[in-house]
Amino acid sequence: MRKNYGDWPAKSIYRRTFLLAASAALASAQVSRADEPNETSLSQRAEKKGLSFGTQVNSGPLFSLKPYHDAVLRDASMIVPENEMKWRPTQPTERQSNYFNADRIARFAEDNALLLRGHTAVWHQNPPVWTKDIITSDEGQTVVLDHARELIGHFRGRVMEWDVVNEAIAPEDGMPDNLRNWPPYNKGGIDFIADCFHAAREADPKANLYYNDYSVYYQSQGRRRDAILSFLEKLKSRGAPIDGFGIQSHLIANAEFDENVYRRFLSQVADLGLKIRATELDVSDVRLGPDIDLRDAIVAAHTKLYLDVLFDEPAVIGLVTWGMTDRFSWLHEGWPRKDRLTQRCLPLDENFAKKPMWYAIAEAFDRAPSR
Ligand code: G3I
Repeated sequence: MRKNYGDWPAKSIYRRTFLLAASAALASAQVSRADEPNETSLSQRAEKKGLSFGTQVNSGPLFSLKPYHDAVLRDASMIVPENEMKWRPTQPTERQSNYFNADRIARFAEDNALLLRGHTAVWHQNPPVWTKDIITSDEGQTVVLDHARELIGHFRGRVMEWDVVNEAIAPEDGMPDNLRNWPPYNKGGIDFIADCFHAAREADPKANLYYNDYSVYYQSQGRRRDAILSFLEKLKSRGAPIDGFGIQSHLIANAEFDENVYRRFLSQVADLGLKIRATELDVSDVRLGPDIDLRDAIVAAHTKLYLDVLFDEPAVIGLVTWGMTDRFSWLHEGWPRKDRLTQRCLPLDENFAKKPMWYAIAEAFDRAPSR
């Protein structure tokens, strides 16, 4: 089912700017198309500036497809499982936990000296089927808290950063404090979410704890920005042990992006004393025509525009992409192109060759101020 990532604007007043940027990106892309095997990796470039680069991984291809496995190791110093740590796969029945795939990824991280992000303990979208009636009952909050403790406790000492709560804000639902209309939030409100953070801290005192959410980047998403800022303020004022805000960054090429609005939002989050990480970057090309070079150029130009603003904010500590290669992206199912072509939304193409988006990320790290 298509997921709504907010009211992306239908037309862009910045089209001309994008086309200019796109032709520049296209020119540089054509020069840099041939991969250089010893080129400095994304994580090396990030680390030079005191930032980090990571990617989401899926255990299927990670352990069966060598070019994918190698691509992850070449560029990333941090990984996050796409689905393997979510509630449904880790607790398929009430009495049975299954950490097989999540544990494999954790071991892969340790064997290769990669940092591990945990995603995600509390998310309205992913409770297992067996919780259906419990979630709506008086036990709803307890079962969610127990799960958070169990999951985070299982990986105690091994995960550097957890998305403790994911996507709890939905102003369109019309609930108090703009919380999503989900029974545990309806009953417990922000105090319940603060409890989730306390449970996470007890389960793993050393992990950094994040709130993670989407659709705060574009002009039209002011209502979500305001709601999330006010939510983060309330969480902090209740003493919730929250260390950071994860900005998912599911972007759309050619959407209207006002850098001043976004700069201000980032600095307001920073003023709350929170670290910021872009946690799920990809750039959908659903609005673009089929031409591959043009799509790649516009996606790269949009990536550049966004990352230059992001990295200027000193509270930003790194970037994670929601995949490395166009071969595997949730967008193909979640937000398909009308012409059914594969979206060119990630740094590497379907055959693991670097695309202009890879170079846009690399150059954004090169330009970023040092931390
Ligand atoms: O688990 C079943 C499996 O048993 C079955 O064989 C298979 C057949 O289609 O479906 C499997 O479930 C799918 C699951 O991914 C694992 O592949 C679900 O249908 C599918 O909806 C699920 O999608 C994931 C989605 O989160 C929901 O969990 C995407 O892969 C994943 O990329 C996406 O990631 C989210 C982040 O967690 C939060 N932010 C947004 C982001 C994109 O939607």
